[in-house]
Amino acid sequence: MPWLSAVHKAVAELGDEARAFALATVDTNGMPHVRTYMYRSTLASKPFPQIPILISSTDIRAAKVDQMVDNPSNPTGEVEMCFWIASTMEQIRIRGHAFVLPALSHPLSKKFHLERFPGLEGLVKVDGIDLESVRRNTFENMPPDLKVSWCGPTPGSVLPGGYRASTGGPETLPKFSEATEERQNWEDAFGKFALIGIEPFEVDYVEMKVTPNRRRRFLLEEDEWKETDVAL
Ligand SMILES: Cc1cc2nc3c(=O)[nH]c(=O)nc-3n(C[C@H](O)[C@H](O)[C@H](O)COP(=O)(O)O)c2cc1C
Repeated sequence: MPWLSAVHKAVAELGDEARAFALATVDTNGMPHVRTYMYRSTLASKPFPQIPILISSTDIRAAKVDQMVDNPSNPTGEVEMCFWIASTMEQIRIRGHAFVLPALSHPLSKKFHLERFPGLEGLVKVDGIDLESVRRNTFENMPPDLKVSWCGPTPGSVLPGGYRASTGGPETLPKFSEATEERQNWEDAFGKFALIGIEPFEVDYVEMKVTPNRRRRFLLEEDEWKETDVAL
């Protein structure tokens, strides 16, 4: 999967700068929405190594969650993610099925259907990976000033008194093992933290630094990626 190697290489060499991607969803009326996300890691199962699971994260209260979970205008939860790696001039557009994995105690965890995601199901049932541990490790590896945002008000809600009046809450959140008086905040934040995972089935990979510019389409068909050269 050259497109996945390109993402991994960029992240290894450039760090956070290369982790940002655009995530497109549709709402319940079929209207498009796009926003920036941070790619966190890739998981792959032994039974389905050809289905990488691209991991990101969100606040379970965010508007986009309803766009990905149980959305009648997009029942299979299709999304498109787009990486632009400026230094190598590569665009990687990935279409896939998205899952949202909140805390087990959250009502939306009932809408998470493992059997719809073959890569993830293989990871759990064959490789014995505990998804709650993946959620916890992903949360714990966030920078402390980012982790604290899960303690804040609902994303997109109006701030009473405006931006300036909204300051004054905790500014960082340590790891659980280092938290003392912050334990309640930690539990609170982790309770709202959700993993987003995307299992790709189609990729459009454009390389603008090679001459002539190159564009390839990759389609996952019967457990195999079929590669086709296409015009730019
Ligand atoms: C560089 C950058 C990275 C971001 N990464 C994430 C992310 O990983 N997860 C997330 O939920 N929001 C992330 N955001 C915020 C979203 O872009 C968006 O503003 C927020 O999630 C609300 O989106 P929504 O109203 O569509 O739910 C990021 C924003 C920026 C500018």
